[in-house]
Amino acid sequence: MKLTDRINRIQISPTAAVITAADQLKAKGLDIADFGPGEPDFPTPDHIKQAAIEAIHGNKTKYTPTGGIMPLREAISAWHQRELNSNYEAKECVVTVGGKHAIFNVASVLVQAGDEVIIPAPYWVSFPDIVKYTGATPVYVQTSVEDGFAVRADAIEKALTAKTRLLILNSPSNPSGGVTPPDEYQKILAICRKNNVWLMGDECYSHFTYDPNKPFSIASAKDSKDHVIIIGSVSKTFAMTGWRIGYTLGPAPLIQALIKLQSQSTSNPTSIAQYAALAAMTGTMDTVPVMLAEYAKRRKRIVEGLNAIPGVKCGQPGGAFYAFPDVSAHLSGPHALAKDTTELATLLLDKACVALVGGDAFGAPGYLRISYATSLDRIEEGLRRLDRFFSRAEAAA
Ligand SMILES: Cc1ncc(COP(=O)(O)O)c(C=O)c1O
Repeated sequence: MKLTDRINRIQISPTAAVITAADQLKAKGLDIADFGPGEPDFPTPDHIKQAAIEAIHGNKTKYTPTGGIMPLREAISAWHQRELNSNYEAKECVVTVGGKHAIFNVASVLVQAGDEVIIPAPYWVSFPDIVKYTGATPVYVQTSVEDGFAVRADAIEKALTAKTRLLILNSPSNPSGGVTPPDEYQKILAICRKNNVWLMGDECYSHFTYDPNKPFSIASAKDSKDHVIIIGSVSKTFAMTGWRIGYTLGPAPLIQALIKLQSQSTSNPTSIAQYAALAAMTGTMDTVPVMLAEYAKRRKRIVEGLNAIPGVKCGQPGGAFYAFPDVSAHLSGPHALAKDTTELATLLLDKACVALVGGDAFGAPGYLRISYATSLDRIEEGLRRLDRFFSRAEAAA
């Protein structure tokens, strides 16, 4: 079939592909230790579900304004100010169909062929493809495990060219869990300002940071507004991945352009989900520390367990809910298990019934992404299977 160049430039999200493959095996009755999904395993809090039920009964089931209902735009701006010390008004906020949609739309209105977009690696799988879809060129900047995968201002500066228009900074990072320290983030903003580059902060994991890291937004920096765009989502913070509500905060003219794009594409995000998100943004946040405490326990166990497996090295992620071990020892030499981590992930699913995503998809050859948004019991089971798989390989070597 003849398709457009722009659709041929991108691939199906590799994380979605892993989830599909794991689901197919589960449907056949296999017990899979599933470290694939990047979503909380906790239910959406009751008061949020209740708000959606009330919205249905109250017939809030019609079109809403394209950019979201005004009370939600106000609530998101107020929540962001309260939680992350920013200073946005409702007119500087647009409600989207999840954070991914927010990123896609911002890229669509800001960059095009001939532009460059800096993406620190390891990166979330969708960043490069969203950029490629617009016709712009992704430019990767490596971060390192030794530095906790923090993004560094000097590395960003080196990657700038006259064509650079946007930098996408995701902290805490999916897949590495890396957190960029606030003072470094400020330096990066100064570089962006000097070079007239937009700084897009993807804050989807803002509230999943482990001690001593704290939730941080670059929008808290003085005079940040003219160069900063904030992307956020209720997906992770409120365990609401399926509801599909995200947002963009930024200068009003940009928000107007985003609303124009939505008016000719998705129209408004689902009305009922918007009322649920309104309850999330205005109600209690007491489930967040409960989830975080549980993730902290799991993080400790999984990092310890991974480091006990032959040929596997794993640092402490500073945030999010992913462990990102280096398994490159198993990918080289005469006893290499696979040619790359994509092949290794397929082997692990087929031979060990463990679902995870190879680092190649995230611009990190030699690494695996393991989501620990699953129970400690399942983590123990997954660790046992990984240990058996890699120990056997080691014994054969
Ligand atoms: C780094 C990052 N940004 C944005 C998103 C988008 O999430 P959603 O579209 O569910 O809001 C995700 C989801 O996995 C993510 O990992």
